[in-house]
Amino acid sequence: MTSFYLSNPYEPPRAPENLPLDQPWALFGGISPQKFMKTYWHKKPLLIKSAIPAFRLAAKSQKPLTSPISADTLLKIANKDSAESRLIQAKPWSFSEGPFKKKSLPEITDPHWTLLIQGMEAHHPAAAKILSWFRFIPDARLDDLMVSIAGPGGGVGPHFDSYDVFLIQMAGRRHWRISEQKDLSLNPKLPLKILQNFKVEKEWVLEPGDMLYLPPHIAHDGIALDAGCQTWSVGFRSPSYKELIQEGLWRLAESLEGIPELERHFADPMQEASAKAEQLPAELIKQIEDKLKNLKLDQAVTFLPGIAAYLSEPKQQAIFNPPKNPLSVDAFFERLKREVFLPHPQTRILSLGKAVFCNGENVTENQTKEVQAAWSTLSAKKRLPSLKGSRGPSNTDDNSLYMAYTAGWLIF
Ligand code: SIN
Ligand code: CO
Repeated sequence: MTSFYLSNPYEPPRAPENLPLDQPWALFGGISPQKFMKTYWHKKPLLIKSAIPAFRLAAKSQKPLTSPISADTLLKIANKDSAESRLIQAKPWSFSEGPFKKKSLPEITDPHWTLLIQGMEAHHPAAAKILSWFRFIPDARLDDLMVSIAGPGGGVGPHFDSYDVFLIQMAGRRHWRISEQKDLSLNPKLPLKILQNFKVEKEWVLEPGDMLYLPPHIAHDGIALDAGCQTWSVGFRSPSYKELIQEGLWRLAESLEGIPELERHFADPMQEASAKAEQLPAELIKQIEDKLKNLKLDQAVTFLPGIAAYLSEPKQQAIFNPPKNPLSVDAFFERLKREVFLPHPQTRILSLGKAVFCNGENVTENQTKEVQAAWSTLSAKKRLPSLKGSRGPSNTDDNSLYMAYTAGWLIF
């Protein structure tokens, strides 16, 4: 018999900075991230028993591991305004959005409910550490880490996602059933996106430490077998082409503001008398064609900064608190030389070549070489060990590192 007091929370390690991409990983059942990407990513499901071997080893030595986050802590997080949480109850299906007071949630042993909390990497360091294991997949693809906690029989019903997802079992057991069926029609009578014809093809019971990878559009249903069942989902978004191009276009349109050449008015001193006055003049069409060519509007490189800016936008419910007593710009740079500087957990940073985008802004434009290099390090390593060299001539509030600090985007 295992005594409850002997159980310990699992403490996930942070992944090393340079991930061994060609080496076998237990997380993928003994294949390398390179092999995983080639064979499974965005292609087919993969079940990995004991993806986190610590759980099985601990169970053998009679000291079972529990989830890094207790049920109590999860319920507290679900009560925060800054957390995106949903409660789903089955039999009959119902859905409500948080924040939730603890008293308004079912007891952990009550049947047929599940609580889902998105963006957990911003609320608990263990979730952020688990995300670090997946940094061989481009940051632009990452959505977040969602944690679900459920009572026996709890689940969200048979459905499909348009995300790639790694479902890590962290507490209790969950019965997963999946199908590669083509019919993804939803039941129109239900308040949730639930498939009307779910035809199970494969099923497994996942225990703590097991993981199931699903590419988009695989029908799936996971039902909690134990009270307090926790599944941690590492989700990867893939926006539609329409979304990417529209978002790129909005930002491109805004960037035309600063071009004096475009402020000039259309001029047609060469216009001849026309017998087809209703037609848009050929001269206007020609001049627009020339302008578009000069602006390289037919080339992807023109759109990519807007797309990178869009993909670096933080989640809608992200809240950044500016420092209460901000350092002066001089004191800030002194501190940067001595202390590690980090992105706030809700900050997103992406690179496009040497340009760096943070929370929707190009933060390397018109900055000194030192500041640009600091941003590149922040983007690649998600931390800045210390500022190398001087901060250069940019000694003012226009310095984007200082601005990101005063906005609460970057923190010591
Ligand atoms: C869950 O964790 O209960 C649901 C995750 C999913 O099916 O996407
Ligand atoms: Co799902």
